[in-house]
Amino acid sequence: MSHEIERLFRPELVTMQPYTPIHPFEVVSERLGRAPEQIVKLDANENPYGPSPRAVAAMAGYPWLHIYPDPQSIELRAALAEYTGAPAERILAGHGADELIDLLGRLLLAPGDAVIDCPPTFGMYAFCAAVNGACLINVPRRADFSIDVDAIERVAAPVPAGGYDDFGWLDAVTVDCGAGSYPRPKLLFLCSPNNPDGSLLPAADLERLLRLPLVVAVDEAYIEFARPGASYIDWVADHGNLVVLRTFSKWAGLGGLRVGYGVFPPAIIEQLWKIKQPYNVNVAGSRAAIASLADRDYLLGHVAQIVAERERLYAELARFDFLQPVPASQSNFILCRVVGRDARQLKLDLEQQGVLVRHFAKPGVDNCIRVSVGRPTDSEALLAALGGGR
Ligand SMILES: Cc1ncc(COP(=O)(O)O)c(C=O)c1O
Repeated sequence: MSHEIERLFRPELVTMQPYTPIHPFEVVSERLGRAPEQIVKLDANENPYGPSPRAVAAMAGYPWLHIYPDPQSIELRAALAEYTGAPAERILAGHGADELIDLLGRLLLAPGDAVIDCPPTFGMYAFCAAVNGACLINVPRRADFSIDVDAIERVAAPVPAGGYDDFGWLDAVTVDCGAGSYPRPKLLFLCSPNNPDGSLLPAADLERLLRLPLVVAVDEAYIEFARPGASYIDWVADHGNLVVLRTFSKWAGLGGLRVGYGVFPPAIIEQLWKIKQPYNVNVAGSRAAIASLADRDYLLGHVAQIVAERERLYAELARFDFLQPVPASQSNFILCRVVGRDARQLKLDLEQQGVLVRHFAKPGVDNCIRVSVGRPTDSEALLAALGGGR
């Protein structure tokens, strides 16, 4: 007997597009017939210098794996307060920055609510909207990847009774919400430095956007690779609607352990404490993150090497006649427009040579590749695999 179990599912999830999973490193290694050490992985903005040895030792020496972790992450939050300058009461640790994005969605979004996204950008914001059944209002970035503040202000303005049903007044804006009308948006995601181009959010833009009656989430996953003073973490103290998200995945080389955090206004963090899973940060990640903060000089030394390598790699990439690297990335990756060649095929050619890069075929980043910046040896492997054309 059929139970027609599907009719019990949330309809907005049944129609949601599945996201393309990345393949585990071991599987890629087997498929390419190369040992993991012979693969140059520049497709996920990971840090090839890896974690601090003190982080590894802190995990290996931790004696209480059979005991549940501290639901309040007290020690980690104290260390983060010292690192960020934000009070520990304003900091929430999570299972990666991804979990904090998810928690914001669960706090703010009921089916039919609206979120503003500024693509091309990190895909989890759109994912967050989709799993919550929210309308995604896409306000595309300009050709230079700057955000269109006028357009954001316009879509965040009070909506006429019955919603909009004609977006002719703003050609570029698209709405993923079925109907074509949307309620007043509740949440705006901004990424600085932005993934995939590495540009920073200008202070004047953020100042204007914070006047809107919505929560502004600024994702600073890559902030350690940016010029000093680029962070907005200090602004959270003065703005009841600003949230700043961070991670240990990039600068601290802990992507596999899933540790992120956010700094929040009091009213928001009070609610997030209630809805987060009690044991969201595991003991291995927590020990490693605390040890990373204690060993930050070592890790920030690698960050400085990556930043220097970014400048060198940019100049090298610009010499290929089929690549147009986007200048001035403030992150650990470089986006390149591919000219006169198919970017997807280029990615596959590089993959055959053991070099993994990310390929994009979306509006704003059509026929592009994004390469993570690693060690000089990683760049050399990439440049050799790109071959002639320089
Ligand atoms: C902009 C941005 N935010 C957040 C994340 C995810 O961070 P985490 O690994 O802490 O979940 C990434 C990972 O690629 C990212 O690019």
